[in-house]
Amino acid sequence: MVVSNFFGILLVMEVMVFYGLRLGVHGLSMDYYMMNCPIAEFIVRDSVTSALQSDPTLAAGLVRMHFHDCFIQGCDGSVLLDSTKDNTAEKDSPANLSLRGYELVDDIKDELENRCPGVVSCADILAMAARDAVFWVGGPFYQIPNGRKDGRRSRIEDTFNLPAPVLNSTELINLFGKHGFNVQEMVALSGAHTIGVARCSSFKSRLSNFDSTHDTDPSMNSNFARVLSKTCAAGDNAEQPLDPSRNTFDNAYYIALQRQAGVLFSDQSLFTSARTRRIVNAYAMNQVMFAMDFQQAMLKMGLLDVKEGSTGEVRENCRKIN
Ligand code: HEM
Repeated sequence: MVVSNFFGILLVMEVMVFYGLRLGVHGLSMDYYMMNCPIAEFIVRDSVTSALQSDPTLAAGLVRMHFHDCFIQGCDGSVLLDSTKDNTAEKDSPANLSLRGYELVDDIKDELENRCPGVVSCADILAMAARDAVFWVGGPFYQIPNGRKDGRRSRIEDTFNLPAPVLNSTELINLFGKHGFNVQEMVALSGAHTIGVARCSSFKSRLSNFDSTHDTDPSMNSNFARVLSKTCAAGDNAEQPLDPSRNTFDNAYYIALQRQAGVLFSDQSLFTSARTRRIVNAYAMNQVMFAMDFQQAMLKMGLLDVKEGSTGEVRENCRKIN
Protein backbone atom coordinates (compact mmCIF):
# COMPACT_ATOMS: atom_id res chain seq x y z
CA MET A 1 0.00 0.00 0.00
CA VAL A 2 2.89 2.32 0.82
CA VAL A 3 4.31 1.71 -2.65
CA SER A 4 1.00 2.33 -4.36
CA ASN A 5 0.43 5.48 -2.32
CA PHE A 6 3.83 6.81 -3.38
CA PHE A 7 2.94 6.17 -7.00
CA GLY A 8 -0.42 7.66 -6.22
CA ILE A 9 1.04 11.05 -5.40
CA LEU A 10 3.09 11.04 -8.60
CA LEU A 11 0.06 10.03 -10.55
CA VAL A 12 -2.16 12.71 -9.08
CA MET A 13 0.37 15.29 -10.21
CA GLU A 14 0.54 13.76 -13.67
CA VAL A 15 -3.23 13.51 -13.96
CA MET A 16 -3.64 17.09 -12.75
CA VAL A 17 -1.34 18.30 -15.50
CA PHE A 18 -3.15 16.09 -18.02
CA TYR A 19 -6.60 17.25 -16.98
CA GLY A 20 -5.52 20.74 -16.00
CA LEU A 21 -7.42 22.40 -18.78
CA ARG A 22 -10.47 20.28 -18.17
CA LEU A 23 -10.52 21.05 -14.45
CA GLY A 24 -10.33 24.72 -15.29
CA VAL A 25 -13.23 24.39 -17.69
CA HIS A 26 -15.30 22.59 -15.08
CA GLY A 27 -14.38 24.94 -12.31
CA LEU A 28 -13.29 22.05 -10.12
CA SER A 29 -10.20 22.42 -8.02
CA MET A 30 -8.16 20.57 -5.44
CA ASP A 31 -8.66 23.30 -2.83
CA TYR A 32 -12.29 24.09 -3.63
CA TYR A 33 -13.43 24.02 0.03
CA MET A 34 -10.24 25.53 1.45
CA MET A 35 -11.80 28.94 2.15
CA ASN A 36 -15.42 28.20 3.00
CA CYS A 37 -15.34 24.71 4.50
CA PRO A 38 -11.78 23.57 5.17
CA ILE A 39 -13.06 20.86 7.46
CA ALA A 40 -15.10 19.14 4.72
CA GLU A 41 -12.50 16.51 3.78
CA PHE A 42 -11.97 15.61 7.48
CA ILE A 43 -15.66 15.27 8.22
CA VAL A 44 -16.14 12.95 5.27
CA ARG A 45 -13.08 10.86 6.14
CA ASP A 46 -14.01 10.57 9.83
CA SER A 47 -17.59 9.61 9.08
CA VAL A 48 -16.57 7.04 6.47
CA THR A 49 -13.94 5.57 8.77
CA SER A 50 -16.29 5.15 11.70
CA ALA A 51 -19.09 3.76 9.53
CA LEU A 52 -16.74 1.23 7.93
CA GLN A 53 -15.40 0.19 11.31
CA SER A 54 -18.86 -1.05 12.20
CA ASP A 55 -19.74 -2.27 8.70
CA PRO A 56 -16.78 -2.81 6.33
CA THR A 57 -19.12 -4.01 3.56
CA LEU A 58 -20.35 -0.43 3.11
CA ALA A 59 -17.10 0.43 1.31
CA ALA A 60 -18.34 -1.47 -1.73
CA GLY A 61 -21.70 0.26 -1.50
CA LEU A 62 -20.11 3.72 -1.64
CA VAL A 63 -17.81 2.92 -4.55
CA ARG A 64 -20.65 1.43 -6.57
CA MET A 65 -22.95 4.35 -5.78
CA HIS A 66 -20.39 6.86 -7.02
CA PHE A 67 -20.04 4.86 -10.26
CA HIS A 68 -23.82 4.72 -10.79
CA ASP A 69 -24.02 8.44 -10.06
CA CYS A 70 -21.31 9.41 -12.54
CA PHE A 71 -22.53 7.22 -15.41
CA ILE A 72 -26.03 8.72 -15.39
CA GLN A 73 -26.27 12.49 -15.92
CA GLY A 74 -22.65 12.86 -14.74
CA CYS A 75 -21.36 13.01 -11.15
CA ASP A 76 -24.16 15.21 -9.84
CA GLY A 77 -25.68 13.28 -6.94
CA SER A 78 -28.72 12.40 -9.09
CA VAL A 79 -28.64 8.85 -7.74
CA LEU A 80 -29.30 10.19 -4.23
CA LEU A 81 -32.61 11.89 -5.04
CA ASP A 82 -35.79 10.21 -3.81
CA SER A 83 -38.75 9.58 -6.08
CA THR A 84 -41.66 12.00 -5.78
CA LYS A 85 -45.32 11.59 -6.67
CA ASP A 86 -44.62 12.92 -10.17
CA ASN A 87 -41.26 11.32 -10.81
CA THR A 88 -39.66 7.90 -10.35
CA ALA A 89 -36.01 8.55 -9.59
CA GLU A 90 -32.86 6.67 -10.62
CA LYS A 91 -32.59 4.96 -7.26
CA ASP A 92 -35.84 3.06 -7.87
CA SER A 93 -34.56 1.47 -11.07
CA PRO A 94 -33.96 -2.31 -10.87
CA ALA A 95 -30.27 -1.59 -11.60
CA ASN A 96 -30.02 0.50 -8.43
CA LEU A 97 -32.19 -1.38 -5.96
CA SER A 98 -29.21 -2.99 -4.23
CA LEU A 99 -27.21 0.25 -3.86
CA ARG A 100 -26.13 0.84 -0.27
CA GLY A 101 -24.83 3.80 1.71
CA TYR A 102 -27.61 6.40 1.40
CA GLU A 103 -27.92 6.82 5.19
CA LEU A 104 -24.21 7.40 5.58
CA VAL A 105 -24.29 10.11 2.89
CA ASP A 106 -27.25 11.69 4.74
CA ASP A 107 -25.32 11.68 8.03
CA ILE A 108 -22.27 13.28 6.42
CA LYS A 109 -24.48 15.89 4.76
CA ASP A 110 -26.20 16.71 8.08
CA GLU A 111 -22.90 17.26 9.78
CA LEU A 112 -21.59 19.41 6.94
CA GLU A 113 -24.78 21.48 6.92
CA ASN A 114 -24.25 22.14 10.65
CA ARG A 115 -20.67 23.24 10.14
CA CYS A 116 -20.81 25.00 6.76
CA PRO A 117 -24.43 25.41 5.60
CA GLY A 118 -25.11 25.37 1.88
CA VAL A 119 -21.52 24.82 0.82
CA VAL A 120 -20.63 21.18 0.17
CA SER A 121 -22.55 19.42 -2.61
CA CYS A 122 -23.92 15.89 -2.31
CA ALA A 123 -22.03 14.93 -5.48
CA ASP A 124 -18.72 15.94 -3.85
CA ILE A 125 -19.63 14.10 -0.64
CA LEU A 126 -20.20 10.93 -2.63
CA ALA A 127 -16.96 11.33 -4.61
CA MET A 128 -14.93 11.92 -1.42
CA ALA A 129 -16.66 9.09 0.45
CA ALA A 130 -15.95 6.62 -2.38
CA ARG A 131 -12.33 7.75 -2.49
CA ASP A 132 -11.98 7.28 1.30
CA ALA A 133 -13.71 3.89 1.14
CA VAL A 134 -11.20 2.65 -1.46
CA PHE A 135 -8.35 3.67 0.81
CA TRP A 136 -9.98 2.16 3.89
CA VAL A 137 -10.16 -1.30 2.30
CA GLY A 138 -6.46 -1.12 1.40
CA GLY A 139 -6.61 0.53 -2.02
CA PRO A 140 -4.69 3.54 -3.29
CA PHE A 141 -5.27 7.04 -1.96
CA TYR A 142 -5.88 9.71 -4.55
CA GLN A 143 -6.67 13.39 -4.18
CA ILE A 144 -9.77 14.49 -6.03
CA PRO A 145 -10.78 17.93 -7.21
CA ASN A 146 -14.10 19.24 -5.84
CA GLY A 147 -16.76 21.71 -6.87
CA ARG A 148 -19.31 19.40 -8.51
CA LYS A 149 -22.80 20.88 -8.30
CA ASP A 150 -25.86 18.75 -7.61
CA GLY A 151 -28.26 18.02 -10.45
CA ARG A 152 -32.02 18.54 -10.47
CA ARG A 153 -32.95 15.63 -12.74
CA SER A 154 -33.17 11.99 -11.65
CA ARG A 155 -35.28 9.73 -13.87
CA ILE A 156 -35.61 6.00 -13.85
CA GLU A 157 -35.49 5.84 -17.66
CA ASP A 158 -31.95 7.29 -17.73
CA THR A 159 -30.60 4.24 -15.91
CA PHE A 160 -30.93 1.91 -18.88
CA ASN A 161 -27.42 3.11 -19.72
CA LEU A 162 -25.94 1.34 -16.69
CA PRO A 163 -23.97 -1.77 -17.65
CA ALA A 164 -25.86 -5.03 -17.18
CA PRO A 165 -24.05 -8.16 -15.98
CA VAL A 166 -24.96 -9.99 -19.20
CA LEU A 167 -22.82 -7.71 -21.39
CA ASN A 168 -19.76 -9.18 -23.08
CA SER A 169 -16.36 -7.59 -23.36
CA THR A 170 -17.10 -5.87 -26.71
CA GLU A 171 -20.32 -4.40 -25.35
CA LEU A 172 -18.52 -3.17 -22.22
CA ILE A 173 -15.78 -1.60 -24.35
CA ASN A 174 -18.44 0.22 -26.38
CA LEU A 175 -20.43 1.39 -23.37
CA PHE A 176 -17.41 2.68 -21.45
CA GLY A 177 -16.05 4.15 -24.68
CA LYS A 178 -19.15 6.36 -24.89
CA HIS A 179 -18.02 7.89 -21.58
CA GLY A 180 -14.49 8.43 -22.88
CA PHE A 181 -12.79 5.42 -21.31
CA ASN A 182 -10.36 3.27 -23.26
CA VAL A 183 -10.19 -0.52 -22.98
CA GLN A 184 -7.54 -0.55 -20.27
CA GLU A 185 -9.43 1.99 -18.16
CA MET A 186 -12.61 -0.10 -18.46
CA VAL A 187 -10.78 -3.23 -17.27
CA ALA A 188 -9.19 -1.27 -14.41
CA LEU A 189 -12.55 0.17 -13.29
CA SER A 190 -14.10 -3.30 -13.39
CA GLY A 191 -11.48 -4.16 -10.76
CA ALA A 192 -13.75 -2.34 -8.28
CA HIS A 193 -15.29 -5.82 -8.06
CA THR A 194 -12.32 -6.68 -5.86
CA ILE A 195 -14.74 -5.62 -3.10
CA GLY A 196 -18.38 -6.35 -2.52
CA VAL A 197 -20.97 -8.90 -3.47
CA ALA A 198 -23.48 -9.79 -6.16
CA ARG A 199 -26.87 -11.32 -5.52
CA CYS A 200 -27.91 -14.55 -7.16
CA SER A 201 -30.33 -12.68 -9.44
CA SER A 202 -27.30 -11.03 -11.10
CA PHE A 203 -25.67 -14.31 -12.16
CA LYS A 204 -28.30 -17.07 -12.10
CA SER A 205 -28.75 -16.92 -15.88
CA ARG A 206 -25.28 -18.53 -16.09
CA LEU A 207 -26.42 -21.59 -14.18
CA SER A 208 -29.23 -23.10 -16.26
CA ASN A 209 -30.45 -22.92 -19.87
CA PHE A 210 -27.48 -20.68 -20.60
CA ASP A 211 -27.77 -20.94 -24.40
CA SER A 212 -28.96 -23.37 -27.08
CA THR A 213 -25.90 -25.61 -26.69
CA HIS A 214 -24.95 -25.20 -23.01
CA ASP A 215 -26.85 -25.61 -19.80
CA THR A 216 -24.24 -23.68 -17.74
CA ASP A 217 -21.99 -20.88 -18.96
CA PRO A 218 -18.89 -22.60 -20.44
CA SER A 219 -16.65 -19.62 -19.60
CA MET A 220 -16.92 -20.61 -15.91
CA ASN A 221 -15.10 -23.57 -14.36
CA SER A 222 -17.38 -26.38 -13.23
CA ASN A 223 -16.35 -26.26 -9.55
CA PHE A 224 -17.16 -22.60 -9.44
CA ALA A 225 -20.50 -23.24 -11.13
CA ARG A 226 -21.29 -25.50 -8.18
CA VAL A 227 -20.31 -22.75 -5.72
CA LEU A 228 -22.66 -20.30 -7.44
CA SER A 229 -25.47 -22.87 -7.57
CA LYS A 230 -25.10 -23.46 -3.86
CA THR A 231 -25.39 -19.72 -3.22
CA CYS A 232 -28.50 -19.53 -5.39
CA ALA A 233 -30.11 -22.37 -3.48
CA ALA A 234 -30.74 -19.74 -0.77
CA GLY A 235 -32.76 -17.56 -3.14
CA ASP A 236 -32.43 -14.62 -5.52
CA ASN A 237 -31.11 -12.27 -2.86
CA ALA A 238 -28.39 -14.61 -1.59
CA GLU A 239 -25.01 -12.91 -1.80
CA GLN A 240 -21.84 -14.14 -3.42
CA PRO A 241 -18.55 -12.24 -2.84
CA LEU A 242 -17.29 -10.88 -6.16
CA ASP A 243 -13.82 -12.20 -5.35
CA PRO A 244 -12.39 -14.36 -2.56
CA SER A 245 -11.50 -11.31 -0.39
CA ARG A 246 -14.68 -9.24 -0.34
CA ASN A 247 -13.53 -6.42 1.97
CA THR A 248 -9.96 -6.11 0.72
CA PHE A 249 -8.74 -4.11 -2.22
CA ASP A 250 -6.29 -6.39 -4.03
CA ASN A 251 -5.90 -8.08 -7.41
CA ALA A 252 -7.62 -11.34 -6.37
CA TYR A 253 -10.50 -10.42 -8.70
CA TYR A 254 -8.25 -10.72 -11.77
CA ILE A 255 -6.66 -13.91 -10.47
CA ALA A 256 -10.15 -15.35 -10.05
CA LEU A 257 -10.95 -14.45 -13.67
CA GLN A 258 -7.86 -16.42 -14.76
CA ARG A 259 -9.23 -19.42 -12.84
CA GLN A 260 -12.57 -18.90 -14.64
CA ALA A 261 -14.14 -18.06 -11.30
CA GLY A 262 -15.58 -14.64 -12.07
CA VAL A 263 -19.03 -14.20 -10.53
CA LEU A 264 -20.67 -12.11 -13.26
CA PHE A 265 -20.74 -13.11 -16.91
CA SER A 266 -19.51 -9.57 -17.71
CA ASP A 267 -16.50 -10.02 -15.39
CA GLN A 268 -15.55 -13.36 -16.87
CA SER A 269 -15.90 -12.03 -20.41
CA LEU A 270 -12.89 -9.77 -19.73
CA PHE A 271 -10.80 -12.94 -19.62
CA THR A 272 -12.69 -14.80 -22.35
CA SER A 273 -12.05 -12.06 -24.90
CA ALA A 274 -8.58 -11.79 -26.42
CA ARG A 275 -9.00 -8.01 -26.52
CA THR A 276 -9.08 -7.66 -22.73
CA ARG A 277 -7.38 -10.87 -21.54
CA ARG A 278 -3.85 -9.47 -21.69
CA ILE A 279 -4.89 -6.61 -19.39
CA VAL A 280 -6.51 -9.03 -16.93
CA ASN A 281 -3.28 -11.06 -16.96
CA ALA A 282 -1.17 -7.95 -16.39
CA TYR A 283 -3.24 -6.88 -13.36
CA ALA A 284 -3.27 -10.45 -12.01
CA MET A 285 0.51 -10.35 -12.10
CA ASN A 286 1.08 -6.79 -10.94
CA GLN A 287 -1.05 -5.37 -8.15
CA VAL A 288 0.74 -1.99 -8.14
CA MET A 289 -0.03 -1.53 -11.82
CA PHE A 290 -3.69 -2.27 -11.10
CA ALA A 291 -3.78 0.17 -8.16
CA MET A 292 -2.21 2.94 -10.25
CA ASP A 293 -4.51 2.44 -13.23
CA PHE A 294 -7.53 2.15 -10.95
CA GLN A 295 -6.94 5.42 -9.15
CA GLN A 296 -6.31 7.23 -12.41
CA ALA A 297 -9.53 5.83 -13.90
CA MET A 298 -11.51 6.69 -10.74
CA LEU A 299 -10.23 10.25 -10.86
CA LYS A 300 -11.34 10.45 -14.49
CA MET A 301 -14.72 8.91 -13.67
CA GLY A 302 -15.23 11.55 -10.96
CA LEU A 303 -15.01 14.25 -13.64
CA LEU A 304 -17.72 12.89 -15.91
CA ASP A 305 -20.10 15.62 -17.08
CA VAL A 306 -19.84 17.58 -13.86
CA LYS A 307 -22.20 20.51 -13.41
CA GLU A 308 -21.05 23.93 -12.36
CA GLY A 309 -22.58 27.33 -11.77
CA SER A 310 -26.31 27.60 -12.40
CA THR A 311 -26.48 24.22 -14.17
CA GLY A 312 -26.64 22.75 -10.67
CA GLU A 313 -27.08 23.61 -7.02
CA VAL A 314 -25.83 22.64 -3.57
CA ARG A 315 -28.72 20.64 -2.17
CA GLU A 316 -29.69 21.16 1.44
CA ASN A 317 -30.84 17.56 1.66
CA CYS A 318 -29.28 14.97 -0.65
CA ARG A 319 -32.66 13.30 -1.19
CA LYS A 320 -34.50 16.42 -2.47
CA ILE A 321 -33.83 19.24 -4.88
CA ASN A 322 -33.88 22.64 -3.15
C1 HEM B 1 -18.00 -3.18 -16.19
C2 HEM B 1 -19.31 -3.11 -16.05
C3 HEM B 1 -19.99 -3.40 -14.75
C4 HEM B 1 -21.05 -4.23 -14.58
C5 HEM B 1 -21.77 -5.02 -15.66
C6 HEM B 1 -21.36 -4.23 -13.18
C7 HEM B 1 -22.41 -4.92 -12.60
C8 HEM B 1 -22.53 -5.14 -11.24
C9 HEM B 1 -23.50 -6.00 -10.65
C10 HEM B 1 -24.57 -6.77 -11.40
C11 HEM B 1 -23.27 -6.02 -9.32
C12 HEM B 1 -24.04 -6.82 -8.26
C13 HEM B 1 -25.34 -6.13 -7.92
C14 HEM B 1 -26.22 -7.03 -7.08
O1 HEM B 1 -26.35 -8.21 -7.41
O2 HEM B 1 -26.78 -6.52 -6.09
C15 HEM B 1 -22.17 -5.14 -9.05
C16 HEM B 1 -21.64 -4.88 -7.82
C17 HEM B 1 -20.65 -3.96 -7.60
N1 HEM B 1 -20.11 -3.10 -8.53
FE1 HEM B 1 -20.26 -3.29 -10.50
N2 HEM B 1 -20.49 -3.40 -12.52
C18 HEM B 1 -19.63 -2.87 -13.45
C19 HEM B 1 -18.64 -1.94 -13.21
C20 HEM B 1 -18.39 -1.39 -11.98
C21 HEM B 1 -17.56 -0.24 -11.75
C22 HEM B 1 -16.89 0.58 -12.85
C23 HEM B 1 -17.54 -0.03 -10.40
C24 HEM B 1 -16.87 1.06 -9.63
C25 HEM B 1 -15.92 1.82 -10.07
C26 HEM B 1 -18.34 -1.08 -9.79
C27 HEM B 1 -18.49 -1.27 -8.45
C28 HEM B 1 -19.20 -2.31 -7.89
C29 HEM B 1 -19.11 -2.69 -6.50
C30 HEM B 1 -18.17 -2.09 -5.48
C31 HEM B 1 -20.04 -3.71 -6.31
C32 HEM B 1 -20.39 -4.41 -5.00
C33 HEM B 1 -21.53 -3.65 -4.33
C34 HEM B 1 -21.94 -4.15 -2.96
O3 HEM B 1 -21.32 -5.05 -2.40
O4 HEM B 1 -22.90 -3.58 -2.45
N3 HEM B 1 -18.86 -1.85 -10.78
N4 HEM B 1 -21.75 -4.60 -10.25
